[in-house]
This record gives sequence, structure tokens and C-alpha cells, in this order.
Amino acid sequence: MASKILIIGACGQIGTELTMALREKVGNQNVIASDIREGSPELMASGPFEVADATNFEQIQDLVIQYEIDEVYLMAAMLSATAEKFPMKGWALNMNSLFHVLNLAKDKKLSKVFWPSSIAVFGPTTPKQDTPQTTVMEPTTVYGISKQAGERWCEYYHNKFGVDVRSIRYPGLISYKTLPGGGTTDYAVEIYHEALKNKKYTSFLKEDTELPMMFMDDAIRATISLMEAPAENVKIRSSYNLAALNFTPETLTKAIKKHIPEFEIDYAPDFRQAIADSWPSSIDDSRAREDWGWQHEFDIDRMTEEMLEGIKEVHHV
Ligand SMILES: NC(=O)c1ccc[n+]([C@@H]2O[C@H](COP(=O)([O-])OP(=O)(O)OC[C@H]3O[C@@H](n4cnc5c(N)ncnc54)[C@H](O)[C@@H]3O)[C@@H](O)[C@H]2O)c1
Repeated sequence: MASKILIIGACGQIGTELTMALREKVGNQNVIASDIREGSPELMASGPFEVADATNFEQIQDLVIQYEIDEVYLMAAMLSATAEKFPMKGWALNMNSLFHVLNLAKDKKLSKVFWPSSIAVFGPTTPKQDTPQTTVMEPTTVYGISKQAGERWCEYYHNKFGVDVRSIRYPGLISYKTLPGGGTTDYAVEIYHEALKNKKYTSFLKEDTELPMMFMDDAIRATISLMEAPAENVKIRSSYNLAALNFTPETLTKAIKKHIPEFEIDYAPDFRQAIADSWPSSIDDSRAREDWGWQHEFDIDRMTEEMLEGIKEVHHV
């Protein structure tokens, strides 16, 4: 029997594509999408959808029992830029939702859990280049503090209660199907939309701010391949470093200009600059490559082609 999957926060930037990819893989009826709001027409039409609040234990437990769920992907969270505006709400959502899912797994109602962490777990005292898997972690954002605490709890539930929880520290994710949800790397998505629509963009990060990034297809492949890896290969139970690209707004502009030569960028850094400055520029992900065979496929040029074509097709620009 195919295992039944519940995706919490399925209508967001990652959840939308993850839901579609898993439905393609294990069958539409075996992947239950849930969120506090409805998602894209494609997502809503392709399989079961339930409204549920990730902070409400009873609602999540009811879904797990009703659909005989084996695996949960917990994608609901408040992202870095938004959580700076609503610190207590961000903390409550990010932590309570994780405890609910970990506790269901501890009570043997789930066999496997995926929970995403972020490069935001690192801080200004972390080595910025090729940030190692294990290093100084002193995050300075509400979001980063919640992700770091979450990682510690994941490892704790694994060690103490045998919970099979798996996690990735995603870099900034770039996609065209769904808009990003209030993170510090959102500029790298907005820039493509504006390049096509208005041929100019004002970046909220400075031209030389280098951050680790990844095209969504790579992130989805990484997520599913980590979840499919034999348990004994998943040696890190806090969260894996994962990398593909590093670039600045200036480098990204050059890649876009190859397709839209008249594209222009200017810079008006806001509060998100300080968040970006506290994060790594590049990540050492050799443990993910060794333990479960991670390999990225998209470089900046291939990603740029896909983004421009994809936005034209999906958003009719
Ligand atoms: N997108 C990125 O670049 C990135 C990078 C690193 C880590 N992550 C992590 O990946 C996960 C998913 O990120 P995303 O970019 O898809 O976020 P998103 O903001 O696009 O989507 C989050 C979804 O969660 C839903 N949600 C919010 N509150 C909820 C609640 N109480 N109950 C149920 N659903 C709720 C929202 O409606 C939204 O559809 C998050 O944990 C995020 O921290 C994302």
C-alpha cells in the first residue's frame, strides 16, 4: 500500500510544487494538501485539500487519523522578513507547529517527518564562506532563532524517542509558479517578474550582497531524495546544509541582461539588508552529497532561462 502523505502549508512557494511533485510520484489521492488558505487552481484540482491550522493540535491530529497519514511535510512557517515584524506570532507558529508534528510522530501516529530549516540558522559570527555543517550558530533574527531551536528539537526527538525526522537548511529558493512568502531572498524572484514587465527593478539588497540560492526544481528533488534515503544514511538529524548557487544582485542582473539587454537595476536597501548581512555567502554541503547523494542541476544561466520562460507562460507577462 502506498504511504499516505500530509503536507501542511501546501499552498506556499515550496508547498505548491512539492505537493504536485509528490502527487505525480505516489498518486494524487495519496497526498493530502492542507493550509489555512486555498492554493493555486492546479493544486486545488489535483487532489484532496483540507483547511487546517498548523498551530491547532486537534485539527492536525484529526487529519492524520482521518486519512491514515504516514508521512508529514511541515511547510507552514512565518518567514524571515515577516517574522521581524511579528516576532511573537512568528515564534508561536514556527515552534508550536513543529511540536505538534513531532509529538504525533513520537506517539507512533507518523512514521516519517520532513521539516525545513534555513541558512537563517547562521549568524554574523558564523564563517561566511563555505559555511561548514557544524559551526558557530548565533542567529540574530526571530526566524533564525526559531529554526535553530527547531533543529535542536528535531535531533532531540530523534535521539530520545526514535522519531524519523529529516531536514534541510534551504538556501533562498527561486521559482515562478508561486510567489515567495516574505523572505529576505525574495528579490531574486521579484527581479525576474519586473525584468519582464517593466524592464527595471529596484533591489532591496545592495549590489554586492552574495547569498546562497537554489532553483526550486533542485530543492524539490533534494527534499524527496532525502525522504527516500534509507534511514541509516540520514546521519544528521538536526538539518543538512544544502547548496547550489551563490550570487549577488549584480551577477543576477548580468544573467538577465543576456536575455533582456535593456533591463536596468538600481538599489534601495531596506531592513532586509541587515538580515542578509548576517547570513552566509556560500555553504559547504559535502555531508548531503556524501550521505544521500545530493547533486544540484541548475546553474544561474539555466535557472534564468527557466524563470523567464516560466513567468511568461504562467503569468502571461
Ligand atoms: N522559500 C524559501 O526561500 C525558504 C528558504 C529557507 C527555508 N524555507 C522554509 O520552507 C518552508 C516553506 O516555505 P515557503 O517559502 O513555501 O513559505 P510560504 O510563506 O510561501 O508558505 C507557507 C504556507 O504556510 C501557510 N500557513 C501559514 N500559517 C499557517 C498555519 N497556521 N496553518 C497552516 N498553514 C499556514 C501559508 O498560508 C502558506 O501557504 C518554511 O518552513 C520556510 O521557513 C523557505
